[in-house]
Amino acid sequence: MNSALTIRGGRPLHGAVGIQGAKNSVLPILAATVMGGGEQIVRRCPRLSDVESTLRILRYLGCRVRREGEAVAVDPGPMDRCDVPDHLMREMRSSVVFLGAILARSGEACMSFPGGCELGPRPIDLHLSALRALGAEILEVGGNLICRGHRMVGREINLTFPSVGATENIMLAACGASGVTRITNAAHEPEIEDLQHFLQAMGARVDGAGSSTIVIEGGHALHAAEYAVLPDRIAAATYLAAGAAAGGAVTVEDVCPEHLSTVTSILAEAGCEIRAWRDRITLRRDAPLRAVRPVRTMPYPGFPTDAQSPLMAVAARAEGTTVFVENIFENRFRHIGELSRMGADIKVAGRVAVVCGVPRLYGARVCATDLRGGAALLVAALSAEGESRLTGLRHLDRGYETPERWLAALGADIRRETETDADDTDRRAAGYACD
Ligand code: UD1
Repeated sequence: MNSALTIRGGRPLHGAVGIQGAKNSVLPILAATVMGGGEQIVRRCPRLSDVESTLRILRYLGCRVRREGEAVAVDPGPMDRCDVPDHLMREMRSSVVFLGAILARSGEACMSFPGGCELGPRPIDLHLSALRALGAEILEVGGNLICRGHRMVGREINLTFPSVGATENIMLAACGASGVTRITNAAHEPEIEDLQHFLQAMGARVDGAGSSTIVIEGGHALHAAEYAVLPDRIAAATYLAAGAAAGGAVTVEDVCPEHLSTVTSILAEAGCEIRAWRDRITLRRDAPLRAVRPVRTMPYPGFPTDAQSPLMAVAARAEGTTVFVENIFENRFRHIGELSRMGADIKVAGRVAVVCGVPRLYGARVCATDLRGGAALLVAALSAEGESRLTGLRHLDRGYETPERWLAALGADIRRETETDADDTDRRAAGYACD
């Protein structure tokens, strides 16, 4: 049954949010569990639909999977399959990270080619050329990838772009290759370091994640491990954006403040008071919001593309004009049409969005067009006058664990309800096919 969020905006937020485990860490870490001998325990595993999709793939592969509270235990056992069927691949584009893990484990893998997604084309050329460089034979037949890599050998791989997914896939495959693989121009994201720490806990020899060169000595048997996933910096950025937009004082707990420094510096420039401790950040906003210098999304440690849309919802109500430049994905401005329905004044030209702040946003019926676009609409609705109704929650639920519960605890007037026929009609009238 589809659901919708009803939000009556304009209430300041006060209180603390315990931040969930990072979606972008837990997905490659769960994929990596297939490579180990024995039961892997992944703690701080968020309850997200993308995690459920990943667990379905693990079960299909023959792994024993059980959840106990915030932990998920995966025992690959003999793992009798090395293919991922199309319907499971389609649930989540990032399931391509299973390619490197299954190849390392079984020497063979078969899955459908991930096509485009709501963010635009999602090529995997860097993943495939790197795996081929390690000696994997990859056939692209009828939309499927048929891969054989029984005798992969480590070597130097220079990425032409520091792709997060490609770096992860190479790290995983290289654990199953003999000899040393050196990835240069690797992605620096904290989630890459998290994957390294998990692989190390399993006994893999991996070093350098967090810098642009990662070295993997493959061919070592991997054992059972227990590991707690990193806090989700994008969920934390979203709750901070909510505090900035609605006003009040919001603390995000169990976070790594250094992973959020580009986001908090923009929020400070917008007029928020930011205080950071070892593992929490408090944002206070009493004065009106101000426009900020251009926000350009970049690979880490630059401003994260995933935080672009929630921050745009903040800028929509700031005094002055803020320019956003999206450098990572082609199609990451789809939330703008929906923000405009709430009264935002935003013009787009290619990868540039010019946001002229307005004194107030108004509640409206809006539909999430993608995960972080949905987060932007949620942030905007919390600061808007009147009632908003947000549909398309299947996108939001991919990355946020019960956001309505946390926001209600902060004082927001928000509730989740079953979607009505009117929501469905509205959505169709607007030309969206979200659910
Ligand atoms: C990951 C994150 C996503 C985040 C993104 C950038 C996960 C599950 N998702 O996505 O939330 O927004 O990093 O920080 O971790 N590209 C190619 N060829 C390739 C691979 C990528 O052209 O083979 C391009 C992509 O189309 C995109 C850019 O490189 O334009 C960045 O992609 P990448 O860093 O690979 O992002 P993902 O791993 O897909």
